[in-house]
Amino acid sequence: MNIWVTCDRERFGPVVLGRTCQPDMDLFSTVCAVQNLWLAARAEGVGVGWVSIIHAGDLAGILNLPDRVVPVAYLCLGYVDQFPAEPELQTAGWLPRLPLAEVVRFETWTGTNGQSWEELGRALSRRPEPPNLTCFPRNGP
Ligand SMILES: Cc1cc2nc3c(=O)[nH]c(=O)nc-3n(C[C@H](O)[C@H](O)[C@H](O)COP(=O)(O)O)c2cc1C
Repeated sequence: MNIWVTCDRERFGPVVLGRTCQPDMDLFSTVCAVQNLWLAARAEGVGVGWVSIIHAGDLAGILNLPDRVVPVAYLCLGYVDQFPAEPELQTAGWLPRLPLAEVVRFETWTGTNGQSWEELGRALSRRPEPPNLTCFPRNGP
């Protein structure tokens, strides 16, 4: 199954909470929805592929989208033979996974990892146990 995820840049009018200072937040929210779809699909055993090697403008024409509606993601969903242990693009040698220490910066862009990285490691190792959700009253009080 193919799904085109779009974003109507004018939905709810010009004043929308979240877009006050950063108008592109609606696009980011749409991408979050794609991620949620992807996670839910994987939990159900459904594979997802994002096809971005495509000119969005061409497809907007084919789909007859009005100017205010932006094509965000063209997704292919379906049952697959297997889920590889690592991302396929990594296996294919497109790009390697980057070590976390190379992409996380502290306080500022030029912040060094040094002590802060050690502190983060210590903080994460002190994280509390997750709450026991089996005690949550399912039908309310
Ligand atoms: C933003 C984005 C764009 C992508 N564009 C393409 C693409 O154009 N062609 C492609 O073969 N894979 C593309 N991919 C990767 C596939 O979606 C992905 O490798 C595939 O679904 C298999 O999932 P896996 O990498 O988790 O194994 C893209 C992924 C993302 C997140």
